[in-house]
Amino acid sequence: MAAHALDRHLVLVGFMGAGKSTLGPLVAERLGRSFVSVDEVVEKRAGESVAEIFERHGEAEFRQREEEAAADVLARKPLGVVELGGGALGSGRTRAALAANAFTVHLETSPDEAWERVAGSGRPLARDSDAFRVLFEERRPLYESADASATDLDGVVLAAGGVRFASHRELDATAVIADIHVAEVHGIDAARTVPRGEAAKTLAEAERLWRGLRVDRTATLGAIGGGSTTDLVGFVAATYLRGIDWVAVPSTLVGQVDAAIGGKVGIDLPEGKNLVGAFHWPKRTVIDTTLLETLPEEERRNGLAEVVKTGLLLGEPLWELGTYAQVRTCAAYKAGICLRDPFDRGDRAQLNLGHTFAHALEAASGYTLSHGRAVALGLLAACRLSDLDDEARVVESVLAPAPVAVDRDAAWAALQRDKKAVEGKIHLVVLEMPGRPALTSEVEPARIREALDALIA
Ligand SMILES: NC(=O)c1ccc[n+]([C@@H]2O[C@H](COP(=O)([O-])OP(=O)(O)OC[C@H]3O[C@@H](n4cnc5c(N)ncnc54)[C@H](O)[C@@H]3O)[C@@H](O)[C@H]2O)c1
Ligand SMILES: [Zn+2]
Repeated sequence: MAAHALDRHLVLVGFMGAGKSTLGPLVAERLGRSFVSVDEVVEKRAGESVAEIFERHGEAEFRQREEEAAADVLARKPLGVVELGGGALGSGRTRAALAANAFTVHLETSPDEAWERVAGSGRPLARDSDAFRVLFEERRPLYESADASATDLDGVVLAAGGVRFASHRELDATAVIADIHVAEVHGIDAARTVPRGEAAKTLAEAERLWRGLRVDRTATLGAIGGGSTTDLVGFVAATYLRGIDWVAVPSTLVGQVDAAIGGKVGIDLPEGKNLVGAFHWPKRTVIDTTLLETLPEEERRNGLAEVVKTGLLLGEPLWELGTYAQVRTCAAYKAGICLRDPFDRGDRAQLNLGHTFAHALEAASGYTLSHGRAVALGLLAACRLSDLDDEARVVESVLAPAPVAVDRDAAWAALQRDKKAVEGKIHLVVLEMPGRPALTSEVEPARIREALDALIA
């Protein structure tokens, strides 16, 4: 079974009336792909509507044409988001093409809900309520064999990214590698443990895992811990035997809303953080928000800064939601952006909102400043430079970013060295309005320096 839609067509299947044609274009927009309806391809080729084809040529002829169209669409590049009619899964040829080229998501619905949506629509198979329900039950097993299921837009995007909300006990891996503290606190039976936090992201730890692993190319590594553990284990999986599968089980808020999604993995060098790494998408990310119950307050605040960042990028007050809804929305947002830009060449840059300032302050503090506090300050500067006073106040009230005592010139030098500074111009993510991020190099350096200085005590 396919694990995610990173390198496959995303195909929405499900009964008529499940909402495939409404959600499909929205999913396509989130993933930066085009939307294709197989029914529409059939109609265009025939110059007749589906109802007309049924009427004039019969269902068998329609199925034949549908099968042809599905095979053509699934053989196409670039990858798309594809809507497949309710009955298409009845074809063995179509099922084989799906298994080879697609990640299928079953858009779930109930017979009542579906009937309510399609009754009176004139669809050939939706004219009689009883027959409709019989067909629903007949087809149910076909849909249930899809790679994943979902009921809403975020659900489809999460499924496409291989992200699943489930108990961490459901982790299915050849060897589980866990943050030693998380393993102790949650009674996890790990094959190997790694040191807590950032201390795990070293060449020595990577080497210890490489040399200690007794697995072959079919193995799946499991990683349970925060971003430090998942970055390390993902990197080891990316490199061991030239790449084996891995599953991420993030145990921090940072991990669940950010680090364990998107396939960036790596370790630190004495010269700097994240200097060695790879893009290696986890086969699955299992999110279990109950793991967060033991998270220390300081770590929770690190994650909350990323939640506020995502809320500003989305233009939604995510900070007002409960933990589960916060995590789900942020994880779906990150999964969508990363599917759109898996190798960080475009849209993914917007995830750096506030981070140019944050990285400068972290560097100037000699990396004693927590990432959450640095991001909180960075978001404040980003809102101010975007002339968004209300949002700046939100950042202040939700994250209470206290100015930090670092050397001003050192912070400024670090900001100019930031990897986003190209040809002497400082590239910054700003917000044209909440929900509309933009990358710009037009902000005057003097204004940037002033915004940075305002963050320093
Ligand atoms: N790959 C990416 O896209 C990405 C994105 C963001 C951050 N990161 C990386 O993530 C790292 C930071 O990760 P982090 O903030 O998730 O934390 P972490 O992994 O560094 O862990 C922080 C601390 O929390 C403890 N901890 C973890 N889970 C716990 C739990 N459930 N209960 C109690 N204690 C727990 C750990 O033992 C550790 O002491 C950084 O190295 C950063 O570079 C990567
Ligand atoms: Zn961050």
